[in-house]
Amino acid sequence: MFATLELACKYRDWRDGPSVQRPKKKSTDLQKLADQLNDESISLESVMAEFKLSNTTLRRMMSHMSDNMDRGLEKGLAKSTIAMLPSFVPELPNGTERGKYIAMDLGGTNLRVMLMEIEPGEPMRTKQFNTRMPNAAMHGSGTKLFDYIAKALADFLIERELQDENLPVGFTFSYPCDQTGLRSATLLRWTKGVTATGCVGKDVVKLLEDAIERDGRVKVSIVALINDTVGTMVAAAYEGGGKCDLGVIIGTGTNASYMESSKNIKHGLASATEEYLHKEMIIDTEWGGFGDRNEAEYIFTRYDKIVDSKSDHPGVNSLDKLIAGMCMGELVRLVLERLCENKVIFNGQGSKLLSTRNTFPTKYISEILHDDCGSYLNTRLIMGELGIEEFSFSDMLLLREVCITVSRRSANLAAAAIACVLNRVAKPYMLVAIDGSTYKYHPFFNHWVTEKVRELLNPGLDVRAALIAAIVSRVKRDEEKRRKEEEARLKKAEEQRQREVAEREADKRADEERARKTDELFRYQLQRKQEDEVLNIRDD
Ligand code: BGC
Repeated sequence: MFATLELACKYRDWRDGPSVQRPKKKSTDLQKLADQLNDESISLESVMAEFKLSNTTLRRMMSHMSDNMDRGLEKGLAKSTIAMLPSFVPELPNGTERGKYIAMDLGGTNLRVMLMEIEPGEPMRTKQFNTRMPNAAMHGSGTKLFDYIAKALADFLIERELQDENLPVGFTFSYPCDQTGLRSATLLRWTKGVTATGCVGKDVVKLLEDAIERDGRVKVSIVALINDTVGTMVAAAYEGGGKCDLGVIIGTGTNASYMESSKNIKHGLASATEEYLHKEMIIDTEWGGFGDRNEAEYIFTRYDKIVDSKSDHPGVNSLDKLIAGMCMGELVRLVLERLCENKVIFNGQGSKLLSTRNTFPTKYISEILHDDCGSYLNTRLIMGELGIEEFSFSDMLLLREVCITVSRRSANLAAAAIACVLNRVAKPYMLVAIDGSTYKYHPFFNHWVTEKVRELLNPGLDVRAALIAAIVSRVKRDEEKRRKEEEARLKKAEEQRQREVAEREADKRADEERARKTDELFRYQLQRKQEDEVLNIRDD
């Protein structure tokens, strides 16, 4: 076992060290050897070692990412895996904006339609409608998908009698688009498992406008299409007094946006449909594509390769698959399956579900890590859902360890990507707004990311994780959780108190009954004695 661990660690060292240049073939041979040895005898340590990335490896990755960002700005996807897409958003809001708008948001799995009323100095008034996108819309024809969105928008407006107001609509569309203007954006590819046909290569604003026209019930003007990371940055700036240096999403997918000087956006501005006269523009990095041309082999494990090869879009958005929630659960499942096959966990007896693809959703990881380490209630429930009937206490600890290691690697990679952009922005004090389900619901992700970003930032730079809605709502949720826990604790204490009162009363009643019976017996015996005495006197 130690030999395997040592070999795995050595392999990691080789992989990490830019100073040790290995010829590619040898590296493949060594990996094969490591794989063979691991297959002969694997341990939790050896498997977990594959997921541990040193700061040297992370810095190496940052340097490769930064090169790709330069090439993306210069020549786009032809020369880089990080597209660096122009957003045509020239500045951040400063809080003086006003008006009535519709914001629509098609994200990983949800559609949100929101009415926003903004007045300077007043809290923003919003009304919204959220729905989960049906599978048929995400995986059928593009027409079906956009008809669904147009119908949701029309229903929302009609319900509020706003159908004829021709309100401006901002469409947050969380997929990579090549923009040639604020309201013209060609879909480059689907990510996050969406496969709707007939959309790639088409103008998304046009697809939406056509669907609204087909629906025919409302009048609106689509004024802008933005990526969700641009939306995060804009929202953070609106709430944080005009300042935000990086907008990041770590949800079903991952990505980031930042403000770039227009003179550097060579490729993006070359095909602009209108002259762009502003000094700066928000760039949608699309960092999720990093690794798509095998330029980051040193961070992929065998599990990542399996997940990628079985995904809806193999070879596409590689970093997305390593960091974000779309694949994290499946990675954990693959590791558990292998540990189980090697009898490291569950005594080698897993379950049919544990060996079935996509049965371990990423939310399980957050639930397991939220567990109270006394009762392991969530972990036990999840074992039940997976059909694992027999497991020991140490199995639960191993499961927790796998969840920590896989999700910590994801946090480290996200931190490296964030630090890479911040080192380029290079302001002494920077504000990062982070949002997304994977980041928000995991109990330690925020802490791990912040800690690692600080380690990887160039000297003299500092960062503050955002003050924005994401954080505010997380804090609120934490408070709510603490309040619920406190209520549960008080309820338990009250139940215990009532049990004790009931027990004391029962004891008292039993004592009284015992006393009554003793008294009765005593009186009975006394009576018998008196009767005997009377009889004795008579006999005498
Ligand atoms: C998409 C990005 C998006 C990110 C977060 C990725 O899969 O390519 O456009 O910003 O997910 O939603």
